[in-house]
Amino acid sequence: MAAKISPSILSADFARLAEEVALISDTADWVHVDVMDNHFVPNLTLGLPVVEALLKHSALPLDCHLMIEDPDRWAPAYAEAGAGSVTIHAEAAKAPIRTLRAIRAAGARAGLGINPATPVEPYEDLLGEIDMLLIMTVEPGFGGQKFLDVVLPKVRRARQMIAGRDLPVWLQVDGGVSAETIERCAEAGADVFVAGNAVYGADDPAEAVRNLRAKAEA
Ligand code: DX5
Ligand code: ZN
Repeated sequence: MAAKISPSILSADFARLAEEVALISDTADWVHVDVMDNHFVPNLTLGLPVVEALLKHSALPLDCHLMIEDPDRWAPAYAEAGAGSVTIHAEAAKAPIRTLRAIRAAGARAGLGINPATPVEPYEDLLGEIDMLLIMTVEPGFGGQKFLDVVLPKVRRARQMIAGRDLPVWLQVDGGVSAETIERCAEAGADVFVAGNAVYGADDPAEAVRNLRAKAEA
């Protein structure tokens, strides 16, 4: 299966974002942007103004991961700004169907994210409303955490659910994805791989992306 690699700029130098994104623009597929509001997660990163600025400098589409308390209010604006994909969290959204439809109506791919301890089964009927299911493989909030193997059976079940409905939904894993863990994720059925520390913590981020892709497609 063709893998898509989405490096997370959470591990990049926030003062030089355009240059950091340019480093991986020839080898990656997407740029993963972690939006955190210090309410849904205990960390604060960036918001719409930075995404709007980055859109002007990125050759790759932006994969915006909203770890915020009120995605229903904010998600459509990211899509309208030009993000290629906007992911909201199931634990935070109060009207996920309306919000996912608003993301799609604004021309972006709609993503639904779930935390490590959130079961996937309650969302099976929403698969037709989304373009990507994001399964967190660490507790959200910080880069550089240890991959949670305990989540892998859920990734496998999610892939079976998607295949069973014959839907073109991408399955993304995010958190602790590295050269050591990516093969397990791919084997479980993931096809979009977020990697922060494994890419921007490497001496050569472009090479790190190539290496991850080779492992995911092996
Ligand atoms: C964590 C973020 C991730 C993070 C992944 O809450 O959603 O995207 O950047 O970082 P690594 O790959 O270092 O675990
Ligand atoms: Zn993320």
